[in-house]
Amino acid sequence: MKEQLQALEKEALEKVDDATSLKELQDVRVAYLGKKGPITEVLRGMGKLSKEERPVIGELANKVRGNIADAIDSKKASIEAAELEKQLEEETIDVTLPGRPVPTGGPHLLTSIVEEIEDLFIGMGFEVSEGPEVETDYYNFEALNLPKGHPARDMQDSFYITEEILMRTHTSPVQARTMNAMEDKRPVKMICPGKVYRRDTDDATHSHQFTQIEGLYVDKNVRMSDLKGVLDRFAKQMFGQEREIRLRPSFFPFTEPSVEMDISCKVCNGEGCSVCKQTGWIEILGAGMVHPRVLEMAGYDPKVYSGFAFGMGPERIAMLKYGVDDIRHFYTNDMRFLKQYHQA
Ligand code: DAH
Repeated sequence: MKEQLQALEKEALEKVDDATSLKELQDVRVAYLGKKGPITEVLRGMGKLSKEERPVIGELANKVRGNIADAIDSKKASIEAAELEKQLEEETIDVTLPGRPVPTGGPHLLTSIVEEIEDLFIGMGFEVSEGPEVETDYYNFEALNLPKGHPARDMQDSFYITEEILMRTHTSPVQARTMNAMEDKRPVKMICPGKVYRRDTDDATHSHQFTQIEGLYVDKNVRMSDLKGVLDRFAKQMFGQEREIRLRPSFFPFTEPSVEMDISCKVCNGEGCSVCKQTGWIEILGAGMVHPRVLEMAGYDPKVYSGFAFGMGPERIAMLKYGVDDIRHFYTNDMRFLKQYHQA
């Protein structure tokens, strides 16, 4: 029996030695140390042994079992270490490999232009306001000196939702909203960018939805020369220091007097070309001194306060600045067009 145990030990230790995976090692453990294994068998047969032999064989069997278990444990540790080593080796990252480019987006040309214009006016002390796109007839028209039935309402074909509610046709209602909301009737100096809507047929220069930026400055002693100074500075910063501006008389119900501002054509430098239709000037925006009725309706005393206002279309400004020939490019999301204006 002693020889039998020693042979078993030798055999098991060889198998442990030969095992190359945790699975094989587990098989060896089950085969030799399991309940149905040969060592358990030996121990079971001990009843047949003599009194003297029993403790000797018992001790030997336990020793053999212990040796095999120890061998399995240490082999297990070494297999695990080797596996970890292998895994670490396989998973090392080659930091010298060239990276895969991650496509990035960029701001839309219109967003960039609006932000650029905002920055210019913020630099001149204006705050940026907002107003609703779904507007009441009162703010869109009446508060701007355009009572019901006023012929100038036809200048702006509107999308009505109900008799009294419409998609705003311009950002001018934010003038009235801002002044109305000012409880202590403090001076106001704000610009308001936003979407506007008109019942127009889309073509190269018209869109049923486009963008405007409104400007309003109300304070004591605001004069036409202040308007001219602000617009001149805006035009030069936006289109270049060599640009000239000119104010032409015009009509808007909410300003008196009203003007339209042109800048000298940068394509021909005022000589006359196809872009400026041979005039040397390009129309940029509408403006004027806030009509006393508009101030009054918003709770400002026109004897104490005066103000100027202006409204411009950033699409038009971007078209002139970058030579974009069709307003629809801003809305059709052709990446080939938009990507040209992404700054790296
Ligand atoms: N709201 C006018 C339009 O959409 C533009 C405009 C003209 C705004 C003169 C003004 C202004 O504030 O003073 O045609």
